[in-house]
Amino acid sequence: MHILLMGPPGAGKGTQAAELKAKFQIPHISTGDMFRAAIKEGTELGKKAKSFMDDGKLVPDEVTIGIVRERLAKDDCKKGFILDGFPRTVDQADALEKILKDLGLSLTRVLNISVPASDLIERAVGRRICKKCGATYHVKFNPPKKEGVCDACGGELFQRADDTEETMKNRLSVYEASTKPLIEYYEKKGVYTEVDGRQAIDKVTADLIETLKG
Ligand code: AP5
Ligand code: MG
Ligand code: ZN
Repeated sequence: MHILLMGPPGAGKGTQAAELKAKFQIPHISTGDMFRAAIKEGTELGKKAKSFMDDGKLVPDEVTIGIVRERLAKDDCKKGFILDGFPRTVDQADALEKILKDLGLSLTRVLNISVPASDLIERAVGRRICKKCGATYHVKFNPPKKEGVCDACGGELFQRADDTEETMKNRLSVYEASTKPLIEYYEKKGVYTEVDGRQAIDKVTADLIETLKG
């Protein structure tokens, strides 16, 4: 099961990837999460990525493609993976095609979580993430039982640096210009399915799983 999860910023890719990971026991590979981990560790990669992410711009392709190539070559990806947030440009999609071909793999399905732009700023600004285990919450749509505390592990919840209204506007315009063309790209390849991301979280999960069965 080699899945590509697409969708605009805040659509629910990370939330749904966590569900699919648990169901299919395959790794969740998020370039955004990889960059944030590198920033936290203070590595060269983190230094390269930080200013782009803070502005809501794309990290350059030559940096991003390299880390994905390395990650997909690991053994745990042979039985499957959920790619989240990559590819985001046509050049990245072409590069992914080549990486998979070299590994003898192919995409099972490209799933696009579709949510109108008008909902996305509220989703991002209200997002809270656990410092310890990375679980994702939302102050209104998926609140933890106790404010500021993770249900799963008791960790403290924080807000991502790029989850401001201003940065979200940039992220949304970058999505429109650079990433949305990938819908047509994958439609042409016959592997594309759209799922209505305006529904409740568990309903979106059910639709994604149904699509993967079919
Ligand atoms: P990345 O981390 O990938 O961010 P993104 O694409 O903007 O997506 P998000 O993580 O913000 O949203 P999501 O779809 O995962 O939503 P979530 O499930 O959390 O990238 C960040 C940055 O890194 C980029 O801006 C760029 O700089 C760089 N980068 C990353 N990949 C790159 C690449 N390939 N090339 C170049 N640069 C790259 O949900 C959001 C909120 O909504 C949560 O609070 C959640 O609880 C809530 N929610 C989820 N589902 C629902 C629902 N059905 N109903 C109501 N609320 C919901
Ligand atoms: Mg995410
Ligand atoms: Zn936690």
